Amino acid sequence: MKVTAQIPATIANLGCGFDCLGLALPIYNIITIEETVLPGSGIEINIIDEHNQDNVENIPRDKNNIVYKAIELLYNYIGQSPNELKISIKTGIPVARVLGSSASVIVGGLIAANELLGHPADEAVLLSIATEIEGHPDNIAPAILGGVVLSDWEEDGSVVSKKLPWPEDWLVTICIPDYELSTGISRSVLPKEVPMKDAVYNLRHSAMFIQAVHTRDEELLKLSLKDRLHQPYRTKLVPGMNQIMENLKHTEGVLGCVLAGAGPSIAVIQDGKNTDTIKEIVSSAWNNINVNAQIYTLPVTDEGAKIILQQ
Ligand code: HSE
Repeated sequence: MKVTAQIPATIANLGCGFDCLGLALPIYNIITIEETVLPGSGIEINIIDEHNQDNVENIPRDKNNIVYKAIELLYNYIGQSPNELKISIKTGIPVARVLGSSASVIVGGLIAANELLGHPADEAVLLSIATEIEGHPDNIAPAILGGVVLSDWEEDGSVVSKKLPWPEDWLVTICIPDYELSTGISRSVLPKEVPMKDAVYNLRHSAMFIQAVHTRDEELLKLSLKDRLHQPYRTKLVPGMNQIMENLKHTEGVLGCVLAGAGPSIAVIQDGKNTDTIKEIVSSAWNNINVNAQIYTLPVTDEGAKIILQQ
């Protein structure tokens, strides 16, 4: 049997929601897994890269591959181990630009294996296994559910994720610079502890974010998309970010500008009325410091990971 899954890109944090808020974008990875019948053929992993990325060479093609690890955990969940498997990973989502490429392949491996095994795991189990591998639920949950998602990760490993009613006309301009930043490096610059006033600052802003989304309140959203828990520590890793935020502050149509996940990409939440100007502001700030960027304006997709083929 052969199963193919499609999984959206995601952006985590959204400013105030460090490690708990994320949204899904209509850019996709495609994962196919096939149980082969030839005993002893082992694991075969193929990667089809849609972006000709150098870093794809470094992705393991053996049992250290993260898709394989996700599949193995699901087999283990039902007391089995995968034997002969062919895995194909088609990377529509650029790698290491913090568009949730790792969350997407983890989720893809899990939902494809779940289909292959006859649905032993429900959504809560898939969320919990995927979050355990990724280390935080903010990309995983929107990759599974689609939309804008708020997630809680409890001490016992359970994940509770709730979709928020994101207005369709709030778009995301995602600005992807031409250099990589691994989440590991970007997490390594964060402090172990933060001042109480900064924790309270984010608490206030994330509460406002939820209310803004529920009431479609653009002014409240503008106020809410701020952060003191991670962005201030990461700006040194993303040259031009402060300048871009400053330049966009009073631009018509901009609802907020945040670091996308752990960076280096930047996400501008906007109302769709001034897209070209927004793109121009970002690209010229980066051009001034010799950073090239790909910039796309996309809606949030309400559709999460799904099985698109089964044979
Ligand atoms: N919440 C994670 C971080 C997201 O900021 O490190 C990584 O995409």
